[in-house]
Amino acid sequence: MPGAMRILQVSAEIFPLLKTGGLADVAGALPMALAAEGQDVRVLLPGFPAILEKLSDARPIGGIVAPWGARAELKLGRVALADGVAMPAYVIDAPDYYGRPGNPYENPQREPYGDNHLRFALLSFAAARVAQGIDADWQPQVVHAHDWHAGLVPAYIAFERGSSNGAGAGAGAATVFTVHNLAYQGLFPRTHFDALGLPPSAFDVNGLEFYGQLSFMKAGLYYADRLTTVSPTYAREIQTPEQGFGLDGLLKSRSSQLTGILNAVDDGVWNPAVDTLLPQAFDVRKPAGKARCKALLQEELGLALRDDAPLFVVVSRLTEQKGLHLVLDALDALVTAGGQLALLGSGDGWLEQAFVERAARSPRAISVTIGYNEPLAHRLFGAGDVTIVPSLFEPCGLTQMYGLKYGSLPLVRRVGGLADTVTDCSLENMADGTATGFVFDEFRSEEFTRALRRAFALHARPADWRRVRAAAMRRPADWRHAAAHYLNVYKEALP
Ligand code: ADP
Ligand code: GLC
Repeated sequence: MPGAMRILQVSAEIFPLLKTGGLADVAGALPMALAAEGQDVRVLLPGFPAILEKLSDARPIGGIVAPWGARAELKLGRVALADGVAMPAYVIDAPDYYGRPGNPYENPQREPYGDNHLRFALLSFAAARVAQGIDADWQPQVVHAHDWHAGLVPAYIAFERGSSNGAGAGAGAATVFTVHNLAYQGLFPRTHFDALGLPPSAFDVNGLEFYGQLSFMKAGLYYADRLTTVSPTYAREIQTPEQGFGLDGLLKSRSSQLTGILNAVDDGVWNPAVDTLLPQAFDVRKPAGKARCKALLQEELGLALRDDAPLFVVVSRLTEQKGLHLVLDALDALVTAGGQLALLGSGDGWLEQAFVERAARSPRAISVTIGYNEPLAHRLFGAGDVTIVPSLFEPCGLTQMYGLKYGSLPLVRRVGGLADTVTDCSLENMADGTATGFVFDEFRSEEFTRALRRAFALHARPADWRRVRAAAMRRPADWRHAAAHYLNVYKEALP
């Protein structure tokens, strides 16, 4: 590929092989978009069972001995991403570390694995080996690491460049680190530091030390040549004490090297015109099929078969971040006003239980499905009138973008990527045709309820509703655009 940039992407999950959240969607879509632009892209993944199972044409590339003595085999093969595109993939075969089915980070009791520091240090260490040329046929110019799981990538590579403090360019690949969620930092006790094989100088406030612990996230933020996060608003927010999780000072000092690049929607996976997971396809010119999707979903979930009842949907991890207790507080009002709620999610036990109990009292108006179910998520966006995302914080958020595309108008809080993707139905936005959803500011039940009332008010005006829905469905969310931004960042990162 003459003229192409050689890019290695490192992530712990990737759609459609293994997914716990939006990170996987992005990790699957971005390399495809870069490859479609003619770039020479490969991915590096831990050899979790779900990934090894799907690795085709695998051949051994070399053995890896981690600083703490662990041995792994690096394989190169291909993984089929969405649309059947075969992406070259390095996979770390290390059954002692990755040979655990299910969630990649937690045991079945939902506790983080006790050796996560080693499991993910191994991922980063392997990335540095690839950068160093363990595969004689291919050496990346840029290594792009995602979230704390790959946070040590820039550290290992920086110290290999030979400088004693990890700073400064030299031989070896340039590094780009992307924050998908600053709330998850990969913090470990100091006692684990020695095993990692990094020089003692790395355990420093100018390094990966964070209040006496070691922070994989901070390693990424400190040592990477360039930083990105997943929306322009979140890029600003994480430089403030309110949303910086203690890392705002560092982020602020690196402000000129930090870019917010808005996530996009993978058209091969999320497109109501061709989505085979929907009972009936529809698009902005022929939205009629959406009514059928709604009727069939109401039937499937045991909701009252009412076309006139606005159907609110939630597809979410049930955690503090997502702000769903605001929905709980407003459920009586929602039902009294004649609305319906269909929720799909899993997470914190108390939230799961609260939603399940509330649904049991109004089974014809509220449906709650606990679990993880990709096809049902598609059916929910296809059927929904409104997608609720009232997050406390939200780096980007993908479900509101799926809601836009599927004509299920987002009701969101003005924070992070939600603020960058949804335009409120204020009179002026309605007048100039930019309105695409419902946006509230303060993280309070009254504010949420007011936005809910706006949704009901608009729903009572079908012509206006259709106009807003058409604007929502037309909103561009193309990965090509985002990939072009990443490419610029990669170019800046090169020495
Ligand atoms: P986050 O990554 O913080 O969880 P995002 O909105 O970026 O939030 O991405 C969430 C992704 O996970 C979306 O693709 C969404 O459809 C999916 N998702 C979340 N919960 C579920 C669930 N219970 N079942 C199926 N898909 C889910
Ligand atoms: C994280 C964030 C979410 C973002 C996703 C993909 O999980 O919580 O807001 O959309 O990563 O970047």
